[in-house]
Amino acid sequence: MAKMRAMVVQKVGGPLIAEDRDLPVPGHEEIRIRVQACGVCHSDSVTVQSLVPGIQYPRVPGHEVIGVVDALGAGVKGWSAGARAGVGWFGGSCGYCGRCRRDSPFACENVHEITGVTRDGGYATHMIAHVSAVAHVPDELDVVESAPLLCAGITTFNALRHSGAGPGELVAIHGVGGLGHLGIQFAARQGFRTVAVNRGSDKEELARKLGASDYIDSAAQDPAKALTAMGGAKAILATVTNGKAMQAIAGGLGPNGVLMVIGAVGPLTVDSLDLLAKRASVRGWYSGTARDSEDTVQFSLRNKVSSMNEIYPFEKAQEAYERMMSGKARFRVVLKMNA
Ligand SMILES: NC(=O)c1ccc[n+]([C@@H]2O[C@H](COP(=O)([O-])OP(=O)(O)OC[C@H]3O[C@@H](n4cnc5c(N)ncnc54)[C@H](OP(=O)(O)O)[C@@H]3O)[C@@H](O)[C@H]2O)c1
Ligand SMILES: [Zn+2]
Repeated sequence: MAKMRAMVVQKVGGPLIAEDRDLPVPGHEEIRIRVQACGVCHSDSVTVQSLVPGIQYPRVPGHEVIGVVDALGAGVKGWSAGARAGVGWFGGSCGYCGRCRRDSPFACENVHEITGVTRDGGYATHMIAHVSAVAHVPDELDVVESAPLLCAGITTFNALRHSGAGPGELVAIHGVGGLGHLGIQFAARQGFRTVAVNRGSDKEELARKLGASDYIDSAAQDPAKALTAMGGAKAILATVTNGKAMQAIAGGLGPNGVLMVIGAVGPLTVDSLDLLAKRASVRGWYSGTARDSEDTVQFSLRNKVSSMNEIYPFEKAQEAYERMMSGKARFRVVLKMNA
């Protein structure tokens, strides 16, 4: 039987270990993808560290996948072998239950899958995905360089376009990491007055190059006060991985502003008086569907948004994961398959 290779979390905490497996056969409405590249996201720690209930091990992480369609299950329409395909965290929806129209894998009663968490993801030479989870990716995009668009990209692109901010309005990108460095590019190109916020000044020059017109060093000044002095943010895209840092910026919202919570930081305390006085809100944002991924990659191609990556051979997934978790990567870590 034909074989595939995967980097697998065999038990909670890891490490990622290479495993040869039988090549899986796609089931009804499923597609098998030959993976060419997979980004390494901070959210892969959800799988490695078992941060949500019910993850079963062994499990293959990876939800920033680009590859080509390798085999089609029965009932798949709109795809043919060899087509360029991408898969994000969204593991698909059935399209007919009342709940899946809410656009989240957490809502669909029938598919209800999260790539790399409840089903095996892209740290592998091959993976299976439900057809509704698969996005068309333009051939013009470089596969390896573009893989992060399937999570870091879609999440920031989609959150910004649903934030309610309009062109010219003040939008803060909090955190200049994997998500944040793409968020700055999307915000600038979506027409916002884009302020990058990070602790320290070492990322200022780059943030400005990526499109930020202003920069706030949150270690040197109170980021809420600095935003307020600029008129208050219509939206803050909070991508930091630290709850206290996120809390410290919430006061920088302006009237009707929204704190878009992207970073998974656990409980968050906000000042209710400040919120009600400004009619401001706090909103969680989950990346989006396969259709949103298609919008993201098309927008990125047209507007020259690209991820800055450190590339690792896929069998060095453990090293790549540690590099991403160290916070030192500039800015995204991507696994490249040999094939
Ligand atoms: N909502 C979604 O759909 C979704 C999708 C993808 C990812 N996420 C989540 O988004 C978050 C960001 O992911 P990522 O891959 O971009 O992570 P990352 O590359 O590690 O970037 C983390 C950012 O947080 C900042 N940070 C870390 N600790 C901090 C602290 N104590 N104080 C202030 N800033 C701090 C870092 O600043 P420095 O540069 O100073 O280190 C960096 O800017 C993660 O929680 C991830 O799980 C959510
Ligand atoms: Zn992710």
